[in-house]
Formats: sequence, structure tokens, C-alpha cells
Amino acid sequence: MKALELKDVRFKYRGSDNWALDSVSLVVEKGEFITVLGCNGSGKSTICLLANGLVPHAIQGDFEGSVEIFEKPVMGRTVAEIATKVGIVFQEPESQLFCMSVEEEVAFGPENLAVPRHEIRERVEWALELVGMKGYNDRSPFSLSGGQKQRVAIAASLSMHPDMLVLDEPAYALDPIGRHDLYSVLRELKGKHGMTVILAERDAEEAAAFSDRIVIMNKGKVVDVGPPRDTLRNPDKLKRMGIQPPQLSEVASLLNARLSTSKYSFLTVDEAESTITREIIGRGGVVRK
Ligand SMILES: Nc1ncnc2c1ncn2[C@@H]1O[C@H](COP(=O)(O)OP(=O)(O)O)[C@@H](O)[C@H]1O
Ligand SMILES: [Mg+2]
Repeated sequence: MKALELKDVRFKYRGSDNWALDSVSLVVEKGEFITVLGCNGSGKSTICLLANGLVPHAIQGDFEGSVEIFEKPVMGRTVAEIATKVGIVFQEPESQLFCMSVEEEVAFGPENLAVPRHEIRERVEWALELVGMKGYNDRSPFSLSGGQKQRVAIAASLSMHPDMLVLDEPAYALDPIGRHDLYSVLRELKGKHGMTVILAERDAEEAAAFSDRIVIMNKGKVVDVGPPRDTLRNPDKLKRMGIQPPQLSEVASLLNARLSTSKYSFLTVDEAESTITREIIGRGGVVRK
């Protein structure tokens, strides 16, 4: 089943002269983990807003093309209805939490859906456990670190039992530990729960190893789509589009250049380490052409 299908989508925000997205076509299958990668202004947030109907329903502008969410056109559906299927987490942790306690925050969505009380409790416990925030029920969201807030925001989405989760640069404002914990949660969402995820990022350092596919955006267009191993192969090409390539892509690329080959690509440190040990150190530590 297709979770999201964009066909020839163009969108220009009201008052803007440029197309934020230009002829974008993209299919995300149910269960896929997609990272949308691009520099500032490349159109990532606009893709996120399309994936939950806020564009074109709530945010005005010129819109062309078609958007289907779980194989139903967004036209003729309401943002509220789509919100029961698609959860969204934004860049700034502060902008999305507004309740007095973590528990209320995570219960808010299902309460609005009139889910029975005992089931709400179960959902809250399940979601907090999943994001590693079990036991924080009574804490004020404002007393949490940025990373904890983002994980509560994810839990608040998950408690609605969405079919797809969209995260727009969720680690943007986080420190390294906050980032690490957040990506562990995302990895688990994919690995254990098979959730359909669209993650917008400016660099693929963290998500490369567990994304099914990477969508590379440049100036409102999709310029490349494919598995991380293919799309992150060429660090110079990424840099020309203002994208910081994963360090392991740079290592592989330098190794390829040094050995006049193109066969190396690394997604994990383990993979890089074992290949380098086997191919180079294992052969007497001499790098030969
Ligand atoms: N509310 C807005 N009004 C006018 N232009 C906007 C608005 N939001 C985004 N844009 C423009 O749309 C383009 C794509 O933006 P966006 O999707 O936010 O990119 P990204 O998330 O990759 O930074 C940019 O040129 C940006 O300036
Ligand atoms: Mg953005």
C-alpha cells in the first residue's frame, strides 16, 4: 500500500515569487522509513506539510498536482481527519507542547478522538515507554530537556495510533545526547514497529544507516531517490547542493579515489572498520593501487 503519493506537485506560498516545490513526484510505501535530505529552503518542510494535508488545506498558496495519503486524495478530506492518520513533529520542541503534564500531553490526542479512558491510559503508557519517557507522566513538559520534549511530542503523536509519522528536523535544536536518544527512538519505530516514517533532515549522519530510502531535494525539486548506499555515494555532489555528507561517505569516497575503485560505501562504523581491516590492514597494511 502507498502511504503517500505526490504526483507532479507544485506549490508556491502566498506572497512568494518562487515555487517552493516544483514538479515533485514521490511514492512512499507503507512501512518505509524515508529521509528527505536537503539544505535550507530546498522544500523539505513543504513536503512534510503536504504529507499531512496542511498544505494545501491550511496553508495558502498556488497548488498544482495531486496528493494521496493512504491511497485517498487529500482534496475533499479535512486536516482533522488526516491528522488521525498522520502524526507530525516539528523542529522546535517548545512550539508543540502546551499541557501541564507529560501525561496530559500524550493523552490529549486520543481524548479528542473520544477513545475510552482505560484505553487512553494504555496508549499513554505504551507511547511513553516507546520513547523512553516512562515514569515522566506527572512532570511538566517545560521542565524537560529539548530532547525529552521532542520524545514527548513523538509520544503525543503515537498515542493517536497514526499510520504514518512525519518529523521535520526533529533534532534541530538538540544537543548531542538529545540527538542520540531521539534517533534511537526513530530506529526502534522502524525496527520494532514497522512504522511508516518521513524524516526531513539537513544531514544524513544519523539516519543514513537505517533509512530505507533517501530523497534528495534541491531548490524545490527531487534530484535523487534511492537507498542510502546509492544516494549518499558522492559526497562532492551533496556538498554542491549545500548538504553535509555523512563522514563515512567521505571515508569511502577517499578510499575509492586512493584505490581507483568505486566499490566501497559505508553506512555504519562497523562496516567501515571491518572492510578496512580486511582489505587493507589484512594485506600487510600497505595501500596499493
Ligand atoms: N510561509 C512561507 N511563505 C513564503 N515562502 C515560504 C514559506 N515557507 C517556506 N517558503 C519558501 O519555500 C521554499 C521551501 O521552503 P521549505 O519547504 O521550508 O524548505 P526547507 O524545509 O527545506 O528549509 C523556500 O524558498 C522558502 O523560502
Ligand atoms: Mg524546514
